[in-house]
This record gives sequence, C-alpha cells and structure tokens, in this order.
Amino acid sequence: MTWRLPDPAATARFGHTLATSLPGPSSTPLVLYFEGELGAGKTSLIRGLLAGLGHQGRVPSPTYTLVEPYVLPRHRVLHVDLYRLRDPAELDDLALADDLAVADDQGRGNLLLAEWPSRGGDRLPAPDLLVALAMEGEGRTVSLTPRTGAGSSLVREVQRALPGGF
Ligand SMILES: Nc1ncnc2c1ncn2[C@@H]1O[C@H](COP(=O)(O)OP(=O)(O)O)[C@@H](O)[C@H]1O
Ligand SMILES: [Mg+2]
Repeated sequence: MTWRLPDPAATARFGHTLATSLPGPSSTPLVLYFEGELGAGKTSLIRGLLAGLGHQGRVPSPTYTLVEPYVLPRHRVLHVDLYRLRDPAELDDLALADDLAVADDQGRGNLLLAEWPSRGGDRLPAPDLLVALAMEGEGRTVSLTPRTGAGSSLVREVQRALPGGF
C-alpha cells in the first residue's frame, strides 16, 4: 500500500497518522523498519510519529549515537539509526532486545523505530511493518508492508484514516 507525500508537511502528517493508528500498549514490542536512501524522509516521518505520540521538543537524528530513547505518555520508544554501524556485532552492546522487553510499570507499550535496519544483519528484532520511503519528483512516496498480524492491523488503520493510498 503506497501513499504520495507531496511535501514535508505531508510526511509529518503521515507520521502523525501512523502514531494515532498504533494499537494500544501491549506487552509485545512493535517493530517498524524504515527504508529508503539518504534524504528520503525516514527521520522526518519519525519526527511526525513521535509528535503524534505526544513528544514535544527535538528529535535528533541518532546517526552518531545509534539510539535515542523516548518515554512518552503511552509508549517507550527506541529510535535507532544504523547508517554508521560498521559491524552488526556493535549492536550487542546496545542490548536493544533487553530494553524492548522491559515491562513498563505504567503500562506503556514498547516501540522500536529503526532506520537502516539492514546494517544490523540479523541482530535487530524482526519487523512488524516495513515503511519504505522513496523520492518521486519533488515529493516522496511511502509504502507500508506488513510482516505480522500486528503490522497488518496497523496498515488497515492507516488505510481507514488515509483512504488515498494505492
Ligand atoms: N514529502 C516530502 N517532499 C519533499 N521533501 C520532503 C518530504 N518529506 C521530507 N522532505 C525533506 O527531505 C529531507 C529528508 O531528510 P530526512 O528526514 O533526514 O531523511 P532520511 O532520514 O531518510 O535520511 C528533509 O530535508 C525534509 O524536509
Ligand atoms: Mg535519517
């Protein structure tokens, strides 16, 4: 399922819609992979998503830190960017899986948002949803591909909210 994003505001809105389409907090972490070349809009979309989850303030690109954590009203979020990862083994030090397994005492759901996931080899948890961004003229397109039942429900919710997909 693909949507056109004619300008940066559309990317931010799409991220917001993705946020409001997420299932309620569950004990199973939800994993979203963001794919697309440099400048395709992965971080921009994630900024919209985090804003939609109630984050206020900046969203630095985790290009150098590899991971940026957020504790939001209903979610604990790990935003990772593996662009600069040289060896997938470096990921073991981050202990992402342990972090994602934390049962939050306020009932928050765990969410992993990963840019350049392929650089992690098989060390990242498997995705529920692939979010692929591509350049199209002056704008962008975004395609959603579910990989699990949770991913499929999420795509159905986004389709309901944004019927213009094709
Ligand atoms: N739908 C869009 N149309 C045109 N430009 C966009 C769109 N969405 C985002 N941009 C711009 O493209 C760039 C994307 O950068 P960024 O989000 O950092 O990409 P990535 O994380 O994929 O490398 C930003 O300059 C942003 O303003
Ligand atoms: Mg980025």
